[in-house]
Amino acid sequence: MEISLSTDIDSISWEELARLFELAPLGKKRDPKKVEIAFRNSLLRVFAFHGETLVGAGRALSDGVWRAAIYDVAVLPKYQGKGIGSMIIRHLVDSAKVDVIMLYAVPGKSKFYERFGFRKMATAMAITPNEDEARKRGLIE
Ligand SMILES: CC(C)(COP(=O)(O)OP(=O)(O)OC[C@H]1O[C@@H](n2cnc3c(N)ncnc32)[C@H](O)[C@@H]1OP(=O)(O)O)[C@@H](O)C(=O)NCCC(=O)NCCS
Repeated sequence: MEISLSTDIDSISWEELARLFELAPLGKKRDPKKVEIAFRNSLLRVFAFHGETLVGAGRALSDGVWRAAIYDVAVLPKYQGKGIGSMIIRHLVDSAKVDVIMLYAVPGKSKFYERFGFRKMATAMAITPNEDEARKRGLIE
């Protein structure tokens, strides 16, 4: 299967990308307009295509020098397990060119990230919109 990576943000259908997150699934249903804002405000973004079909995506916030944070890595279910998620992570990690890259994994996905060198942080902390829910989902202590 020929998969190509693209960084061309102007050719993206934000409805299609929001749908991809819904199908993956990754988080709650998203407003395509907000998806566009988030991807445009991220220094690094990458999209995986099978022909004309958007099958995967990922983005990273970065200061371009020291620190970056990866978010929203997702692949359409029928394309999962074919190495596309790995292509997306490798692209983001290789193009970040910073000292430290952070991310937080959906519970159960840490092993996927470990293979790229990500390690659990002992002191990472976060403010979340709903602490009880985040605790229930296994995201915070
Ligand atoms: C997580 C996700 C992006 C991985 O993408 P993918 O294209 O399926 O991943 P790959 O095919 O590149 O998998 C690479 C390897 O990681 C392994 N892997 C994938 N998910 C894993 C998991 N949850 N636990 C352990 N290993 C995992 C695969 O088995 C594969 O191993 P192999 O190379 O030995 O065959 C994809 O499954 C997805 O979109 N999931 C739903 C959204 C999500 O949870 N995103 C991550 C948020 S933190």
